[in-house]
Amino acid sequence: MKFFIDTADIREIEQAARLGLLDGVTTNPSLIAKVGGNRDHVLHEICRVVDGPVSGEVVAVQAEEMIVEGRALAKIHDNICVKIPITQEGLKAIKTLSDEKIKVNATLIFQPIQALLAAKAGAAFVSPFIGRLDDISQTGMELIHQVKIIFSNYHIETEVLVASIRHPMHVVEAAMIGADIATIPFPVIQKLLNHPLTDIGLEKFLNDWKKNKTT
Ligand code: G3P
Repeated sequence: MKFFIDTADIREIEQAARLGLLDGVTTNPSLIAKVGGNRDHVLHEICRVVDGPVSGEVVAVQAEEMIVEGRALAKIHDNICVKIPITQEGLKAIKTLSDEKIKVNATLIFQPIQALLAAKAGAAFVSPFIGRLDDISQTGMELIHQVKIIFSNYHIETEVLVASIRHPMHVVEAAMIGADIATIPFPVIQKLLNHPLTDIGLEKFLNDWKKNKTT
C-alpha cells in the first residue's frame, strides 16, 4: 500500500518525507486555507519536496470552469493530480481532463456508485472519505470493501485512495482490504510506529546492556 500525507503544511511533509515512506500528498481547499498563502505556490513547493502524485483541488463548481482550473493546476508540475468533487458537473470535468491525459483524483466519494462513475470517466484515483462516514454512524471502511470488489469485478485500474483517515486502525484496515493508497494526516503518521511494549522493551534491553560489565 502506498502512503500519502493529507496536509498542505510543508514542514509536516518534510518530516514525513524524512521517514522515507512518503509516496505522495493530498490537499484540499480546507488544508490549503489552514496554511494560508497562494494555492499554486503551495502546491509547487510540495512538488519540490515529494516525488509522487500531489493532489490539488479545484474550487470551481461548473464543469467548464473546473476544466480551465484543472488544466492550470496540471501546468504547475508534472506530478500534480487534479482533485475534482464527484458532482454531475465534476463528472464531466473528470472525463474531459482524463481524456487530455491529466491525472484526476475524484474526491468527496461517499457511496460505491460514485467511485464506479468516476472510474468510468477515467479518474486515476478515487477518494472515499471513511472518517466522515464514521462520524455519521456509518461504517466508512465498508465503502472501501465495496469499491474494491466493484473495481476487481471489472478489472478497473483506478486506484482506491482511502481518505479522511482518523487513526492507525483505519490504516491497518485499509491495508488488510488491499486499498492502493492511504492518505494520512501527520499526527496519525506519527502514531503509526508507537507501541508501549516497544518502548518498555527497548528500555529493558538498554538497561540490561548497561549491567553487563564485560562489554
Ligand atoms: O483530503 C481529504 C480528506 O482526507 C479529508 O479528511 O479529516 O477532513 O475528513 P477529513
